[in-house]
Amino acid sequence: MKVSPALLKGMPMKAIIPVAGIGTRLRPHTHTIPKALVPVAGKPIVGHILEELAPLGVKEIVLVTGYMGDRVKDYVAESFPYLEVCCVEQEERLGLGHAIYLTKECVGDGPVLIVLGDTVVTADYSAFVGGGRTLIGVKEVDDPQRFGVVEAREGRVMGLVEKPDVPPSNLAIVGLYYIVNSPLLFECLTEVVEKDIRTKGEYQLTDALKLMLERGEDMGVYPVDGWHDCGLPETLLDTNRVLLKRSGGNGKSIEGSIILPPVSIDPTAVIEKSVVGPYVSVAAGATIRDSVVRDSILSSGAIVEMSLLSRSLIGEGAVVRGHFQRLNVGDSSEIEMGA
Ligand code: UTP
Repeated sequence: MKVSPALLKGMPMKAIIPVAGIGTRLRPHTHTIPKALVPVAGKPIVGHILEELAPLGVKEIVLVTGYMGDRVKDYVAESFPYLEVCCVEQEERLGLGHAIYLTKECVGDGPVLIVLGDTVVTADYSAFVGGGRTLIGVKEVDDPQRFGVVEAREGRVMGLVEKPDVPPSNLAIVGLYYIVNSPLLFECLTEVVEKDIRTKGEYQLTDALKLMLERGEDMGVYPVDGWHDCGLPETLLDTNRVLLKRSGGNGKSIEGSIILPPVSIDPTAVIEKSVVGPYVSVAAGATIRDSVVRDSILSSGAIVEMSLLSRSLIGEGAVVRGHFQRLNVGDSSEIEMGA
């Protein structure tokens, strides 16, 4: 289905953000906070997602909550009070397709955006939703086997497959979707769930999109450059770098310390006699004292003292305390300490 952009113009844009997952790959951080609230570049992941959507005039979001869902709901209500939030609880984590299937009542009949709760996509969202056509955000990758994959011809989706052993292309689905014909989406999701169509044990959104395609939905691909995954410690640190570089951070000089931008330092954080940056996020109430910290994320209340840190994630309230060394090194000596 292709709908005239003019017809869509007056329609309020809704966005579904599924955040029910357990975030096992980000443990131990997700033992105490849900993945969507893990801090990156100065705010929780879901905070970045909602800020990206703001220029589009998204007024209503549909949150699919599960693991520690109340914390996500409270954060969104406090930090984005202008948003109307419709919450759906996914009691059993049966897959992304199942999570979206549960949102039917909240979404209604209009077009809808779907953005994964652990991925910050920096894209031209107005172009993404402006064409009146169902679009799937994609990016060329070297290892498509790990993702949902799209086969496309001249920008048009010809086929979709979830985590294929033999990928038909290297176009990975990045977790950003614009669905014009949401009644058809829900019809296909219902079929996937009711007929128990599972791939890799889960009800997949990709399988429902494939059914939509078979039923004649016109679907395009939308190339996305700014795809910032936050699901693994390494990708979270990479995303921290990219987002700080993009925003410039908020670092100002702090007496007695050296701040190397870009950094994001919460006003309630304490920095003493340290070198901080580049690419460091320091959350509320965290402390860095007598240390050198770069390329790292400190969650709220974390304490780092007398330490040299790089590419590190320090969780809420965690304490890292090193020690000073006393050396008396002779000529032509060579000393290596730690990795
Ligand atoms: P992931 O597949 O990354 O799962 O979900 P996860 O639980 O968050 O993380 P791992 O694999 O255990 O480390 C991608 C997105 O889809 C949501 C997740 O919350 C995340 O935002 N999701 C996934 C659901 O809401 N429900 C599901 O059943 C599956």
